[in-house]
Amino acid sequence: MTLEITPIDATLGATVSGVRLDALDDETFAAVEAAWHAYAVLVFPGQHLCEEAQVAFSERFGPLERRVFKIHSRDNPATIDLSNIKKDGTLWPASSETGLLLSGNNYWHTDSSFKRVPAKGSALTARIVPDTGGDTAFADMRAAYDALEPAMQDWLSNKIAVHSYAFSQGRVGGMTGVSEDEWEALPPVEHPVIRIHPATGRRNLYIGRHASHIVGEDERESRRLLERLCEDACRPPRVFTHRWSAGDLVLWDNRCVLHRGLGYPANQPRRMIRTTIAGDSEDIKA
Ligand code: OGA
Ligand code: MN
Repeated sequence: MTLEITPIDATLGATVSGVRLDALDDETFAAVEAAWHAYAVLVFPGQHLCEEAQVAFSERFGPLERRVFKIHSRDNPATIDLSNIKKDGTLWPASSETGLLLSGNNYWHTDSSFKRVPAKGSALTARIVPDTGGDTAFADMRAAYDALEPAMQDWLSNKIAVHSYAFSQGRVGGMTGVSEDEWEALPPVEHPVIRIHPATGRRNLYIGRHASHIVGEDERESRRLLERLCEDACRPPRVFTHRWSAGDLVLWDNRCVLHRGLGYPANQPRRMIRTTIAGDSEDIKA
């Protein structure tokens, strides 16, 4: 097998074939990691990894986050089941706690930006895919930064945003599944609006649905500005959408990519398993 990396028709993303992620030698891993830094999102079709293999592959990039919410309950605390399927096989209605929690993923975001040390990357595998919908879209925040007017780049260069899960999830509901202890562990946190990628040195926007407002600025106005930045950023040629097949794994760089789910009919089952690579606190300095 030879590793084949095919760029996707956007400023980010590549499809990778000719590799088995559950049998990755060090040399091939280094090539995959280099491609990840270059393309920010890698699509690996048809891998069909078991959960243990997904965890093992993800751990090559660093220690994994442990899940924060009991509602995502799994045997392995390093995996999150982003599924609308109950234990008895029936589906959670869209209006249920789980349905509302999942619906938050349909807004542009970067995983765990509401944590003090946000995630470095995420690996998502498709297990059960709906007949229609359920695609995931990705947006390149490096190219989005590059596309800003120099005056805006300048103005944002020292700005800090407040990221808060209570703020973002409050907008879509589904808050009661989070216990008081869990809320206490998730106070609002601050991150630079512009980050410098530790591996590439490229600047990028670090925004998304958890970003509530900018420190020291009018709350409502800066919230509107963040929303407008996000809207402008997440447009072609900076976006691509992945149509899942069961067995696919997609690995993205949360430090410089936003993503969102595009939704699917509530009467269709969908099971996705995520592993989340923890950030280094070094990464968050801009
Ligand atoms: C995620 C996520 C979107 C989707 O896994 O972090 O936001 O399409 N997923 O399931
Ligand atoms: Mn996500």
